[in-house]
Amino acid sequence: MKEQQNISWLAASLAAKLGEAPDVAVVLGSGWAERADGLLDGIERFDLNDFENWPLPRVQGHAPELRLGKLQDTRVLLCGGRVHAYEGYTAAEIVRPVRAMIEWGVKNFILLNAAGSTSESYPPGTLMALADHLNMGLPNPLTGPNTPTGQITFVDLVDLYDPTWRAALTATCTDVKTGIYAGMLGPSYETPAEVAMVAQLGGHAVGMSTIPEAIAAKAAGARVLAISMMTNLAAGVGGSRPNHQEVLDTAAEHGKRASEVLKCAVLAAAAE
Ligand code: HPA
Repeated sequence: MKEQQNISWLAASLAAKLGEAPDVAVVLGSGWAERADGLLDGIERFDLNDFENWPLPRVQGHAPELRLGKLQDTRVLLCGGRVHAYEGYTAAEIVRPVRAMIEWGVKNFILLNAAGSTSESYPPGTLMALADHLNMGLPNPLTGPNTPTGQITFVDLVDLYDPTWRAALTATCTDVKTGIYAGMLGPSYETPAEVAMVAQLGGHAVGMSTIPEAIAAKAAGARVLAISMMTNLAAGVGGSRPNHQEVLDTAAEHGKRASEVLKCAVLAAAAE
């Protein structure tokens, strides 16, 4: 399988350049790259342009680099440069880094994103650990011939977002909410009618990422914790009209707490 070759090649280059696989890999989303500054000791940086098969972002704000370091005894890899379906990437390309990291030996993934809140009870700045998702338009990486095995698999997504890891996080960071993330294709923000529909279906957040990587990780046997930062009220909620600058500004404004929660999340990975 050609895609399996891409994955294996990338896994081999990660091992060659970075050595042993870290305990936890963090996929940084919009507004999160700066939140991870200062998290790790002994940081080594790697440019994603040096990894042949790592798909590169076409959107501003997603720094294309890896940062490897330690938080206490935990070896952590911070991955900038997430790519999205709205950039024109296929599901197989979006999840290739996650699959390669799993082949390299990574077993725990923290997937971060920025999201719009469907209700004023989760105001901007709220951090929400995903309890589940509604996939409203993102591609599923298990479709078609481009799965690593080339086989179609019917994977169970109950407990996709690891309940034990999430509980360890919310026990230490009690302000972290839990909720349901609705994944939209984007890149346009939702219509107010779409947001109202998601809210009625029980969705707390709308975003454009995370779900493909979470499914690929679970299918390959890795553990997933995902956290949304509510950067805005979603379209129509309290009269909101979302825009990208607001997303970045809110992420910066609430950055300090986001950094602390990210630290808790990494440390909670070991709490089994
Ligand atoms: N909708 C979708 N994605 C987002 C939003 C939003 O309102 N805010 C940040 N990412």
